[in-house]
Amino acid sequence: MDMWSAPPRLTNDGAFMADPVPAYSAWRREAAVHRTTTPDGSPVWLVTRYGDVRSALTDSRLSLAKSVSRVGYRGFALPPALDANLLNMDPPDHTRLRRLVSKAFTARKIESMRQQVQHVTDQLLDAVPTDGPVDLIAALAAPLPMIIIGDLLGVPDRDRENFRSWANALLVPNQAGPVTPARAVDHLQDLLSTLIATHRTSPDGTLLSDLVRVRDAGDELSEDELTSLAFLILLAGYETTVHLIGNGIVTLLQHPRELDRLRRDPSLVPLAVEEVMRFAAPNPYAIRRFARQDFAIGGAQIRAGDTVLLLLAAAHRDPDRFTNPDELDITRIDNGHLGFGHGIHYCLGAPLARLQAQTAIGSVLTRFPHLRLAVAVDELQWRASFRSRGLLALAVTTTPSR
Ligand code: HEM
Repeated sequence: MDMWSAPPRLTNDGAFMADPVPAYSAWRREAAVHRTTTPDGSPVWLVTRYGDVRSALTDSRLSLAKSVSRVGYRGFALPPALDANLLNMDPPDHTRLRRLVSKAFTARKIESMRQQVQHVTDQLLDAVPTDGPVDLIAALAAPLPMIIIGDLLGVPDRDRENFRSWANALLVPNQAGPVTPARAVDHLQDLLSTLIATHRTSPDGTLLSDLVRVRDAGDELSEDELTSLAFLILLAGYETTVHLIGNGIVTLLQHPRELDRLRRDPSLVPLAVEEVMRFAAPNPYAIRRFARQDFAIGGAQIRAGDTVLLLLAAAHRDPDRFTNPDELDITRIDNGHLGFGHGIHYCLGAPLARLQAQTAIGSVLTRFPHLRLAVAVDELQWRASFRSRGLLALAVTTTPSR
C-alpha cells in the first residue's frame, strides 16, 4: 500500500519537521484537498496546491472569525483580551483596526530602521566567540527580532526575556518547560496590561503609546482590541522572524553552491531571503480559514463552518507554478511565494521581517567566511510544532576547518 494513501497525519513532531517536504509533496500530488485532523483533534480540510491556496486567500466565502467555525476551535482558547486581533477578524472590523496600525509598518518607515537593525545585528555578532561552536539561534536569530519589535512597540528590556519564555510556553507547550499555556496566557495578559498602563501615564512615542492615545481619544479601538493588537504584533513579529533567519542560514549551509554564489554577490541577499521563504517556509500551515457557506475547493465539497488549512509549504513546491520547485535557486526572479499571505490580511510586518532576515543573513556571511554546521544535519533539533518550522538551536563553527 502507498504510505500516503491514508489521510495526511498532522503532527507536533520535531523529527517530522526535520524533513517534511517529501510528505507535503506526496499529499499535493495525491489530492488538491484532503480531509484530516489537527494534533488537537480538530477536523480540517488541507489545501495543497498553489492555485487553490492563492485563490482561497482572496475568497470572501472564507472567514478568519472563529465564530464562523462550526466544530469550534479545539486548540488552546485565548481570552477575549488577547484574541480580538486582526487574524481573527473580517471587514469591517479588520479594515478599521488594520488602518490604525498600518502606518507604523510602511516600507518607508521600516527602511528608516535599517541602521538600527544593522547596529543591533553587529552588536550581537560582536559577542560571538571566534574560537568554538556557537548557537546562532541563541546568539542572533532569537534576540534580534525581540530587540527590534520591543523597541518599535515599546516593551522595556527587563520584560523581553519574560515575553520570550511565555510566548514559547504558549506556542510549543511540549518543549517549553514547566509553564503551562494557561499560566503563560495569564502572565502575558498581566504584562500587557501593565505595559499599557505605563504607556498611558508616560507616553514615549513608541507604537504602543500611539495606540493607547487612539484608544483614549474616541471609540475607534476597544481596550480588548488594544491589548490584542499589541499581543499579535509581539507574537507575530517575533516567532516567525526567528525561524526565517535560522532556516535561511541552515538552508544555505546545506546548499554550498548557492551559498558560494551569494558570497560572491551579496546584492543577491534580498532574492535569497525570498527563496528561503518559498523553500523552507517558517510557517508551513500558518493560514487558517473558516467557510461561511457550502462551496467546493479543488473538487472537495466544503460545508459552512468547516475549517480550512492552507498548506503553504506544499504550494511552494507545486511544479504547476514553480520551475524546478525542489531546487534552491537564490536568483529565482518569478518567486510568487505566499509565505506572507496574500490579499487583505497580507503580513503587516513583511517589510520588517525582510529587513531583519536580509541584515542578519548578509552580516553572518560577511563576518564568517568559514561558517559551517557544527553538528550533522540529522542532529539538528526542530521545534515540536506542526504550525511552525524552526530550529531550537543552530550550532555552527566559524573557524577554518583543519
Ligand atoms: C499576517 C507571516 C513577520 C505582523 C501574516 C500572515 C502571514 C504572516 C502568512 C497572513 C495570515 C493569514 O492570512 O491568515 C509572517 C512571516 C513572518 C512575519 C513568515 C516572518 C518571517 C511579521 C512581523 C510582524 C508581523 C515582523 C510585525 C512586526 C503580522 C500581522 C498580521 C500578519 C499584524 C495580520 C495582518 C492582518 O490580518 O491584516 N504574517 N509574518 N508579521 N503578520 Fe506576519
